[in-house]
Amino acid sequence: MGIGMEEKILVTGGAGFIGTHTVLQLLKQGFKVSIIDNLDNSVEEAIHRLRKLVGPQLSQNVEFHLGDIRNEKDLEKLFSQTKFGAVIHFAGLKAVGESVAHPMRYFDNNLVGSITLYKVMAKYNCKKLVFSSSATVYGQPDKVPCVENFELTAMNPYGRTKLFLEEIARDLQKADSEWRIILLRYFNPVGAHESGMLGEDPKGIPNNLMPYITQVAVGRLPELNVYGHDYPTHDGSAIRDYIHVMDLADGHVVALEKLLEHKDIGCVAYNLGTGHGTSVLEMVAAFEKASGKKIPIKLCPRRPGDATAVYASTEKAGKELGWKAKYGVDEMCRDQWKWASQNPWGYQPKPK
Ligand code: UD1
Repeated sequence: MGIGMEEKILVTGGAGFIGTHTVLQLLKQGFKVSIIDNLDNSVEEAIHRLRKLVGPQLSQNVEFHLGDIRNEKDLEKLFSQTKFGAVIHFAGLKAVGESVAHPMRYFDNNLVGSITLYKVMAKYNCKKLVFSSSATVYGQPDKVPCVENFELTAMNPYGRTKLFLEEIARDLQKADSEWRIILLRYFNPVGAHESGMLGEDPKGIPNNLMPYITQVAVGRLPELNVYGHDYPTHDGSAIRDYIHVMDLADGHVVALEKLLEHKDIGCVAYNLGTGHGTSVLEMVAAFEKASGKKIPIKLCPRRPGDATAVYASTEKAGKELGWKAKYGVDEMCRDQWKWASQNPWGYQPKPK
């Protein structure tokens, strides 16, 4: 058992896509976990699946609490009963378009939620935090790969919440050196657990590429709109750094271990990406190969606000966390397809 394992880890948003995969890896590493989630964009079925996957023994080490981090009372109830060794904070909204239309919803969920959480954490002297940031804080980078010390910017209200929350974390830690904070900047999380039992299940029409491709493959949507075919890239489509969700989950486990073991880490950001760029058309081809399905595409104009190429420098996470992504695009597509073919309607039954 490592340091701190006798204490529970609180995972906010633990019923969501990245949350469930991370909780699974935490349980396997011997951590005890409490999840708080308001199920705004997730379902309890994901937790049932998670329990099945880890088996009866380990599933005793996970608790689920329906609650909202914006509600101090929900947090008080948890913190007054349990001593948490650290918090992994996923809970938040992440749809760019929705954030432009409803900025207050984003400021309320992401900013108010996090600030309320940090207040209660400080009150109960739990000052160790792993926070879900995003490559969105690099905006449209002039140079790639993106290095952690690049200047940060926001392109929309969603991105602004991530940027503000990074700044808030830095200020918090500067004012009180007892805080230990790791900000993890995710690139483009895709794929699913290899069992096909857990995966991404967005509500409504997906905004992101992989869930969209998946829904075309299972016949829920007719074709994929490829946004932009005149980018200055080898095939004209935009380039991103797709990362397997299990690699991302492992990144959280090593970040947490670092947090528990090192007193003086301060507030530090790490990229979680593979360091490899893949174009939209390459991703479509890889998915077709993995699934054996033809994905009809329509070439469309660029999506406003999209960058030409975004991928990570992985040096800092490699050196300081000893973490490196294991999976490539073929494995991402293989597992994405396994999840989708077994669960074409996500966690829900097929609508009648
Ligand atoms: C987007 C957000 C980012 C957020 C991330 C995770 C923007 C500008 N960025 O990243 O802030 O952190 O999601 O939620 O929205 N594409 C298509 N057709 C589609 C969907 C996407 O061609 O139907 C293309 C996009 O133009 C882009 C690539 O696929 O070039 C990846 O898109 P997406 O999955 O939405 O991720 P990002 O835009 O990188």
